[in-house]
Amino acid sequence: MTLVPTRSEDSFQLTAESVADNWKHNTKGVLIATPANPTGTAIDTDELVKIGQYCKAKGGFLIVDEIYLDLSLSNDLDARTHTGASQSTNNKDVKLQTVLANSELQDTVVVINSFSKYFGMTGWRLGWCVVPETMTPIVEKLAQNLFICPSTLSQKAALACFTPEALAQCEQNRNTLIERASLVFNAVQNMGLSLDAQPDGAFYAYINIKHTGLSAIEFCDALLSQYHVALTPGNDFGEHNADHYVRLSFATSIERLNEGLTRLARFVEALA
Ligand SMILES: Cc1ncc(COP(=O)(O)O)c(C=O)c1O
Repeated sequence: MTLVPTRSEDSFQLTAESVADNWKHNTKGVLIATPANPTGTAIDTDELVKIGQYCKAKGGFLIVDEIYLDLSLSNDLDARTHTGASQSTNNKDVKLQTVLANSELQDTVVVINSFSKYFGMTGWRLGWCVVPETMTPIVEKLAQNLFICPSTLSQKAALACFTPEALAQCEQNRNTLIERASLVFNAVQNMGLSLDAQPDGAFYAYINIKHTGLSAIEFCDALLSQYHVALTPGNDFGEHNADHYVRLSFATSIERLNEGLTRLARFVEALA
């Protein structure tokens, strides 16, 4: 596997150019998460289509991890897919469309997704993938040999996700995430730290801590041992510039976030 460096100017996402530059004679395909973990940033739709077309031309595949797709941090419901509403033509708004909306890519693209995030079923070990028809027998063989099927309990529980009450609850949870996102993004900036690219979805802030002079691991170690706040060093997710970034997850209550952010601010102030 080749890890391809990304830039904040490209929302920490691959570009068609970076894919072409890194494609080797034995490359089989490209894996992209959008919105991504740890950055929460989504890939530009046009760029994703270009990458899909490139993969297709090379006889390769494109796997798109859309696990955070429905956790958009925008409240523009028209831009979101599961509402069934008509799609907006504004480029920023269509960012969180499923890649499968592009009919020409449907025979090249594999989409993976899970009940873990939008439906809050982390730990139930239940997900799905959408594969081109020609790949179905191959994926079936893999599934049969690796795990036969997801547990019946998880499958039955997941059916309850599609009731109107459950969907309303999920939307309410997403709105809560939007509130927490603005709290966190503002607080981080007030501390003099920066988010180099605006997150589009998920529940993460990928914070640039370079100017503190500490590496990401030193920063997280000291914050945890002195202030009892846990952030994740960029090194847990990759290599490129990873020492300069830490990930904050806001998958916790506003009260705990406020407490954590106050401690983080005190820590950053003491470093200055
Ligand atoms: C981008 C991304 N894909 C997949 C997963 C794994 O999810 P699951 O709980 O379905 O294994 C995660 C979990 O954090 C994730 O961030």
